[in-house]
Amino acid sequence: NHRFSAAALGYNSPPVPTTRTTMRATARAQPNIALIKYWGKRDTEQTLPAVGSISITLADLFTTIRVEFDDAFQGDSLVVNDAENAAMLPRVSRCLDAVVGGERAHAAITSKSNFPIAAGLASSASAFAALVVAADVAAQTHHSRERLAGLAGQASGSAARSIYGGFVELANQDDAIALTELCPAAGWPLCVVVAITATGPKAVGSTEAMETSRETSPFYARWVAQQQADLDDAREAIAAKDFARLAAVAEHNCLKMHSVMWASRPPMVYWNATTLECMDAVRRMQSEGVPVFFTIDAGPQLKAVCEPSAVETVRQRLAATPGVEAVMVTGLGGGAGIIDDD
Ligand code: PMV
Repeated sequence: NHRFSAAALGYNSPPVPTTRTTMRATARAQPNIALIKYWGKRDTEQTLPAVGSISITLADLFTTIRVEFDDAFQGDSLVVNDAENAAMLPRVSRCLDAVVGGERAHAAITSKSNFPIAAGLASSASAFAALVVAADVAAQTHHSRERLAGLAGQASGSAARSIYGGFVELANQDDAIALTELCPAAGWPLCVVVAITATGPKAVGSTEAMETSRETSPFYARWVAQQQADLDDAREAIAAKDFARLAAVAEHNCLKMHSVMWASRPPMVYWNATTLECMDAVRRMQSEGVPVFFTIDAGPQLKAVCEPSAVETVRQRLAATPGVEAVMVTGLGGGAGIIDDD
């Protein structure tokens, strides 16, 4: 959905016609939830992750981003959910430079998400995935999907995975990342119930928190060393559609990541009492034979992954858990793409 409109802008003396060029596109991407987590960068200089990860891309939560380049704009501007956002603008501008090149025209960017942002729901993942796709089409840079994933990943590690749909593996290579769709969303249509236990921005952003863990957590090196085994286990569980096996390794990996955070200095505890109540609710369902497991990211929300047959039970039980403010239910979805915003 890209277009050009060139219009003569007027004539000075001597009359030299100038051309104004506008190029725009709108893209949509969904957040993803890691089942095998990314936590830590390889070193301070690099934006490359220290570990690989495996995620599921969601269907019904999304961020829509419109990028418009115009050589008449005086600077970049960013509007997030109808409000000017100066804080995020430098990161967004850097990402556009990486996609289009530093000589690009200035851009007006508008972003809308249909779910709470900055609360451990990976809003940066869907935002940067949508941003690189929209910028690529608007500026006609024609990057490959893998390159777009790499560019999104430089802005937010987890964003690389939201370029793709279903079950996605991000593997570490020497000086790059490689993305693989392990199974499409329709191939194993699991459901996710997100229990919102608190809204509002999180205490410590993940970029800073990861660095604190790398520098201070006595468990960090073990975490990195063990990741390959968890990735292998999860990949095999997905290939076999073995829910119990995936549940076991995903919960283990999640709790291991949080152990790294808890043992950091200063400690980072993203859970609240309701997060623990939700974990307990999932445990009780599991003991009753309900096919469900939990995962938790850098925020207090609990994400319960379940088989479609269990989604109503899981939704009701989490909604009835004391302290839960709201629940959101979604299936798995496809990757980032251009939409028509006319
Ligand atoms: O992409 P970032 O920098 O926001 O980091 C994401 C970190 C976790 O959500 C906790 C784990 C993951 O793999 O998504």
